[in-house]
Amino acid sequence: MKYLIFGKGYIGNKFKEFLGEDAMLSDVRLEDYSAVKAELEKMRPEVVINCAGKTGRPNVDWCEDHKTETLFSNVTAPLILASASQELGIYMVHVGSGCVYEGYKNGEGFNEDDAPNFFGSFYSKTKAWSEAMMKEFPILQLRLRMPLDGEPGERNFITKITKYPKVISIPNSVSVIDDFLQVGKALIDKKATGIYNVTNEGTINHQEILDMYKEIVDPSYNYELFSVEEMEKITKAKRSNCGLSTKKLEAEGIKIRPVKEAVRDALYKYKENLEKAKAA
Ligand SMILES: NC(=O)c1ccc[n+]([C@@H]2O[C@H](COP(=O)([O-])OP(=O)(O)OC[C@H]3O[C@@H](n4cnc5c(N)ncnc54)[C@H](OP(=O)(O)O)[C@@H]3O)[C@@H](O)[C@H]2O)c1
Repeated sequence: MKYLIFGKGYIGNKFKEFLGEDAMLSDVRLEDYSAVKAELEKMRPEVVINCAGKTGRPNVDWCEDHKTETLFSNVTAPLILASASQELGIYMVHVGSGCVYEGYKNGEGFNEDDAPNFFGSFYSKTKAWSEAMMKEFPILQLRLRMPLDGEPGERNFITKITKYPKVISIPNSVSVIDDFLQVGKALIDKKATGIYNVTNEGTINHQEILDMYKEIVDPSYNYELFSVEEMEKITKAKRSNCGLSTKKLEAEGIKIRPVKEAVRDALYKYKENLEKAKAA
């Protein structure tokens, strides 16, 4: 067994599916240092991947009211895994978040050396804190953003926004899961360390995704837009809207598809999966 994955949620399962038989999802929770170290000693993985965390259900507002649980899962838990991995000399990969920025940096997009500038939600604060701590160790951190893929599901950004009664429309960097996993694996194969923005190239706004959804998946679908100010009247935490730079990946010789092409491709797969489910 080569890869041991912690966190059996959306991203953990996607990694497992992508890596196949070489990978295993651990049943051990990241709570107790000795238990985690014992699991690593028993399984002896070449790579540990941390996909554990609290993102909030039904959304990130949950984290505002559950700060202790959020802090534990997003900061303490990765540090427990990082300490055990460092102690045993095991290469660690951590799934971080691009939701630590606000804005577009004059169209350039934020790069991996830019200090986080978005602290409007407790969730984002915890992701920035853990990122800063883990940056001190030879750990690979993959920044993910607004993940979406071809499989309908409550964690998929396509499913999420098509179910909202009203949506904002702001340009954002997103990670199409197929690309995120491929790029993540390429970086793991190189035993890269440090932070990487693993988002598709460029930005896309909500309206563009919804128009593509209407064109490709469901022509009868309609949506209603509202402003950020209106949205903030019904949400507890602010939401990060930002563009990230993919120049560091390019410099490593790793190509990631332009966002509009990758989203379109995911929507064709999404439609195919909906049709398969209907026929079954
Ligand atoms: N999905 C996104 O929009 C998004 C975007 C950017 C970054 N990320 C990051 O990606 C990572 C994975 O997110 P996801 O979307 O896969 O979330 P998810 O579907 O909620 O899965 C996270 C899993 O981690 C588990 N977990 C929490 N604390 C744990 C602990 N101490 N030990 C072991 N497992 C624990 C959760 O189980 P319980 O709920 O039972 O505790 C859950 O099964 C997180 O770090 C998240 O911050 C996600």
